Amino acid sequence: MNAPLVDIEGLRFAYPGAASPALDGLDLQVAEGEAVALVGPNGSGKSTLARLIAGLAVPDGARRAVVCGHDLLDARGRLDARRDVGILFQDPENQLVAEDVEADVAFGLENLGWAAERMKARVEEMLAAFSLEHLRERAPHLLSGGQKQRTALAGVLAIPRRVLVLDEPTAMLDPGGREDVLAAVRRVRADGLATVYVTQEMGEVGLADRVVALERGAAVFDGRPRELFADLALVGRLQLGLPPAAEVALALAGRRETGRALPLTLDELVGLLMGSGA
Ligand SMILES: Nc1ncnc2c1ncn2[C@@H]1O[C@H](COP(=O)(O)OP(=O)(O)O)[C@@H](O)[C@H]1O
Ligand SMILES: [Mg+2]
Repeated sequence: MNAPLVDIEGLRFAYPGAASPALDGLDLQVAEGEAVALVGPNGSGKSTLARLIAGLAVPDGARRAVVCGHDLLDARGRLDARRDVGILFQDPENQLVAEDVEADVAFGLENLGWAAERMKARVEEMLAAFSLEHLRERAPHLLSGGQKQRTALAGVLAIPRRVLVLDEPTAMLDPGGREDVLAAVRRVRADGLATVYVTQEMGEVGLADRVVALERGAAVFDGRPRELFADLALVGRLQLGLPPAAEVALALAGRRETGRALPLTLDELVGLLMGSGA
């Protein structure tokens, strides 16, 4: 059995001057090829954890904090983690730095000193994978929000990664842009890359193999999405809400305890309704 790609135990981090730590004994493990959703109320430490996993902040301490074999407690380890872990942020602005889409996708590779031929081939591959070929000469400020996120993702993944962290990548997008970025994330998933997906959209949590819920800087749930949404008391305490399909099913059942698992996707909801003869 391989060691998990993300192997964190008892991670602590406090912002200077903060009254309480942002991460307070956090545990998280992510295996190769696994998709983990990270949820929790505002301020529970999701973004802080995302940045730490990507080697972008210095932990105060941990019993163990190893990412892709690199020790986050060590400066050299954090640098190496930055190479293996890609991160996509919420804000579609400020993530694109070059004059057009093609140059942006190439940017990270250029910094790593890839040879021109190899870089060109890799950029073409990414433009094709993220349906950006027709936008290659477009300036970032002329892109839609969804196109910006797709371009940023193509740039992040142009560098071969072992883990991808996504910090609410659809939160600032309109519904069309959201679908656009979700489709791109699904393709990445299909390729088997390990992902840590921070989201407040419970409809997106069903896509994950596992969901970890944070509360005040610690993981208070770690299990299957279905198990999380079966615990309505915890869902309520963390103010997570339910996937839209589950909301509909509960409303139809008159909010009675039906004893049946709540549907998490539209397909499951339709299946439930057809099966019940409704
Ligand atoms: N740059 C910062 N400086 C000081 N405190 C911060 C900073 N960023 C976040 N925090 C605090 O750290 C805690 C965790 O924040 P964050 O990781 O952004 O949570 P989340 O992403 O779950 O909303 C919160 O109490 C927040 O106010
Ligand atoms: Mg956040």
